[in-house]
Amino acid sequence: MSTIPTHVALIMDGNGRWGKSRGLTRSEGHYAGTKAMEDIIDASTEQGIKVLTLYAFSTENWKRPKDEVNYLMSLPIKFFNQKLPEFMRRNIKILISGDVDGLPKKTRNAVERAMRKTKNNTGLIVNFALNYSSRSEILQAIYRVLKDAKENGLAIDDLDEVTFEKYLYTRGLPDPDVVIRSGGEKRVSNFLMWQSSEARLCFVDELFPDFTKELFVKAIIEEKEDTGLSWKECAG
Ligand code: FPP
Repeated sequence: MSTIPTHVALIMDGNGRWGKSRGLTRSEGHYAGTKAMEDIIDASTEQGIKVLTLYAFSTENWKRPKDEVNYLMSLPIKFFNQKLPEFMRRNIKILISGDVDGLPKKTRNAVERAMRKTKNNTGLIVNFALNYSSRSEILQAIYRVLKDAKENGLAIDDLDEVTFEKYLYTRGLPDPDVVIRSGGEKRVSNFLMWQSSEARLCFVDELFPDFTKELFVKAIIEEKEDTGLSWKECAG
């Protein structure tokens, strides 16, 4: 028996290596990755997935060469300029998980506009993890919980998982059922560590620009086995 997950989270790894292996720049690899990402968004609507979270930029990524960081920060501007009319037609809602205030102004404006324009859409939610770190997310949640306890009467003794989740960037979203990572590395890399505590992990060898709709569908569909195990590693 196979089931379609509600929330799929994707670590889009391998763009830089893909570019280099073709004698191109790392940024050209990110451009190719953006094209693959568009296919995965299409596949998600085709498969009836409700939420797709895409790891687009981690707080660690600021350490990359300036040219590459600038290119990665320009991508959302171009992408949303081009794709927003289509997302409106397709009823796709854009969310951002991450420190939006820490983004360059033009990038922040572009993502805030995308969220604002699509906020009433009721179809697929595409949630971009941008300037995201799971540890920072948990820490900022703790700061805000403590502030609400001090200033707004939040009863710390009543704090539970349901309340705490409201302080995370992903508030209101279901937990991911599956986390997929392309590019061959078997690591979680500070991604959705609270939210994916029950998620199936799926590691795929293909570099992200080579990650096709077919590989995506293969990765999201869990063949139930009589093993009694809820975690199953999968390889491409
Ligand atoms: C990791 O690959 C990938 C990224 C840091 C960026 C991923 C971003 C996209 C695919 C597009 C985002 C687009 C928008 C519109 C938000 P890597 O470069 O670390 O790969 P490597 O392991 O080969 O070095």
